[in-house]
Amino acid sequence: MISIIVAIAENYAIGRKGDLLCHLPNDLKHFKQITSGKTVLMGERTFFSLPKHPLPNRRNIVLTDVKGKIFEGAEVAYSIDELLQLVKGEEEAFVIGGGMVYRQMMPLADKLYITHIHHSWDDADTFFPEIDTNIWKKISSEEHQQDENNPYNYTFAEYIRR
Ligand SMILES: NC(=O)c1ccc[n+]([C@@H]2O[C@H](COP(=O)([O-])OP(=O)(O)OC[C@H]3O[C@@H](n4cnc5c(N)ncnc54)[C@H](OP(=O)(O)O)[C@@H]3O)[C@@H](O)[C@H]2O)c1
Repeated sequence: MISIIVAIAENYAIGRKGDLLCHLPNDLKHFKQITSGKTVLMGERTFFSLPKHPLPNRRNIVLTDVKGKIFEGAEVAYSIDELLQLVKGEEEAFVIGGGMVYRQMMPLADKLYITHIHHSWDDADTFFPEIDTNIWKKISSEEHQQDENNPYNYTFAEYIRR
């Protein structure tokens, strides 16, 4: 099973200048809790944008077109097909970004773990594809208010394919 996990702004923005849009420590905890012990799949840019790469306690797989590029601590796939072969038989593998990889994996995903950040960024340069409610059914939703450490209201939601 392939799942996508992502934090999305109200305008579907997910990144700016190679980085996340904001720091939400509670979302990072949520991400860690869901993905720990599992396999995480990501594009080359997301791998190098992680403060600590590879992500510890997870099997890391990076997509790149460039043969010979080294990703210490991670496996490499040179195409989506190769990526799918590597995770065949896994109970749940997580696509963790970025925009380019989400767009390609959305049609192949079974489940979405979306953190909806209740704010918009006009200067974003990376976006998530539309979540079509004819295709995706929301199965859970948990709202959280901003606090001294988390500057925006946010909702943890899960969707499955209808
Ligand atoms: N909000 C969130 O939850 C979240 C999560 C993750 C990332 N982000 C943000 O998203 C942004 C990065 O996203 P991005 O779209 O720029 O880059 P990306 O998807 O992380 O990586 C793109 C790279 O992946 C490789 N790639 C993608 N598809 C491939 C394919 N089919 N075959 C082979 N290689 C492939 C290519 O690497 P080569 O150039 O090496 O060939 C491509 O340049 C950053 O701002 C990051 O902070 C946000």
